[in-house]
Amino acid sequence: MPGESGTPFAPYQLHVQEAADFIAARLDAPPRLGLMTGTGLGAVTGGLMVATALPYSHIPHFPAATVQGHPGRLLYGTLAGTPTLALLGRFHLYEGYTPLAVAFPVRVLQTLGVDTLLLSNAAGGLNPSFRPGDLMLITDHINLTGENPLVGPNFDRWGLRFPDMSRVYDPVLAAAARKAAAAAGIPLTHGVYAGLKGPSLETPAEIRFLKTIGADAVGMSTIQETITAVHGGIRVLGVSTITNLNDPDHPAPATVEAIVAVAEKAAPHLGRIFAGIAAELSGA
Ligand code: HPA
Repeated sequence: MPGESGTPFAPYQLHVQEAADFIAARLDAPPRLGLMTGTGLGAVTGGLMVATALPYSHIPHFPAATVQGHPGRLLYGTLAGTPTLALLGRFHLYEGYTPLAVAFPVRVLQTLGVDTLLLSNAAGGLNPSFRPGDLMLITDHINLTGENPLVGPNFDRWGLRFPDMSRVYDPVLAAAARKAAAAAGIPLTHGVYAGLKGPSLETPAEIRFLKTIGADAVGMSTIQETITAVHGGIRVLGVSTITNLNDPDHPAPATVEAIVAVAEKAAPHLGRIFAGIAAELSGA
């Protein structure tokens, strides 16, 4: 079968399995929910009752996290009663990781049986109605990274060669997020996320282009992980924290320090929404 064995892809499958086996041996119950936090958003996992913490560096074949605001740890515990694995820190194309390396943690979650993935990221706002600190439910995305984690042989056991992308972000999870946000009194807007490779930020002409093609926010993550999860049959929810505004008519420099500061302030709100979704999933 294509991609099953004897291809250059086989070592990757083996590495995913070895990482998953290492993690599974340290868990009390199979995880159902995966969380992945972005820049400055580690506190999103505040509601997790942590049973086990594993630095990425202890997990076989896990890439090392190098970015400011990304601690690089895997937490296992329960979130509103749901067995959960939280990935604090992700890998970015702009760090030089391949799409397969960026997708690696998602394949490990898939192998461990996770069926729902909640993603968060920091993003620049394009929609003029947005303000720094706003939380945006991602309703769809535009992949402008020039990369795709499914390029290469298809491993049929993981998913289909041509996965459908007509409903990437799960409407049931989105409804649960809206309900959780409303219950907690947290405003939650929504929009389309454009993913670029980075690491340079956008020029005013690029911002104008992104607005024209229908993007409400722009960032440098999430796309590879989401495509991988959809391929693997994992339901996805994504929320962007709008850390800065990109106005092509009034260009203003965005510093990583300011981006991290806004993200850190918004993280507890996002954590409450994620905990509310978990409660909904567990029927609590
Ligand atoms: N552009 C791209 N990525 C980002 C931004 C931005 O303005 N803010 C936070 N991540």
